[in-house]
Amino acid sequence: MKKDLLSLLDLEKDDFETLFKRAIQLKERYAKGILDKLLTGKTLGLIFDKKSTRTRVAFETAMIQLGGHPIYMSTQDTQISRNEPAKDTARVLSRYIDCLAMRTFDHSLVEEFAKSSTIPVINALTDSFHPCQILSDLMTIIEYKGGYEGIKIVWVGDGNNVANSWVNAASVLDLDLTVACPDGFGIDAHIIEAASAGNKSHIRFTNDPMKAVKDADVVYTDVWASMGDEDELSKRIDVFRDFQVNKSLLSQARKDVLVMHCLPAHRGEEISEDVLEDKNSVFWDQAENKRHMHKAILEKLILRN
Ligand code: CP
Ligand code: NVA
Repeated sequence: MKKDLLSLLDLEKDDFETLFKRAIQLKERYAKGILDKLLTGKTLGLIFDKKSTRTRVAFETAMIQLGGHPIYMSTQDTQISRNEPAKDTARVLSRYIDCLAMRTFDHSLVEEFAKSSTIPVINALTDSFHPCQILSDLMTIIEYKGGYEGIKIVWVGDGNNVANSWVNAASVLDLDLTVACPDGFGIDAHIIEAASAGNKSHIRFTNDPMKAVKDADVVYTDVWASMGDEDELSKRIDVFRDFQVNKSLLSQARKDVLVMHCLPAHRGEEISEDVLEDKNSVFWDQAENKRHMHKAILEKLILRN
């Protein structure tokens, strides 16, 4: 049976562990010049309806380095933009390619593609979730902290797609997660409810960023207005002012705090310039790890491991 990766609730704890181990192994092997060509002859389709630098290039290079081929399609260049139904496109693409990564607005579209495809479908970001991002970010946390157990992770900012995926990960892995968002911009109730099917005893929600980051091991932030919300930015800048990740906020955290951001970052908004440019920052490792983690995901789904 094919498996999809639409949200982190699609994975069991063992799946996370397998992906972390394999991504770290693939990264080490790549650094030694060992090329794992396990996907020779396989094709990954990418349908992107929103902009992307990291996710697109990480998926494309991952596929090429594994011996396969990526085919990038902007939604605008496909018949989807002329209203070909998702279920038709999904069935047709299933006859050509071995896996599909999709980036779009409405999460129900990736669900529809997954339902109508005979190939695995990967969510490469929707308005609701960004599962692959959190997988590679947890890999980065494991590299720097030796694991994620007992690590206090604090989200500061908008209760957006990336935050939702952190809540999902926390419920499956029992992470110590605190989510600090301004009133009215928190995690949607249905995401919290879905996470509560897992263990959410270590997930806390607050609107006080200073208290939230106290003794944090990891502080994570993201843009205040995600793709599709840009017209709200000027209004949000006022509401989110106290949620900027800067030296003053970080003074509450542990000395060895890891500051994380999925990027792209908006300097002077959700993160200050000096924090972003700190010589010990891990943002660029986070970005690199997307390639290694995408390889592990592609192998697992295409080879049905
Ligand atoms: N972090 C991330 O998904 O970046 P892109 O939007 O550039 O893919
Ligand atoms: N929350 C951001 C993430 C970008 C990688 C957005 O959806 O625009």
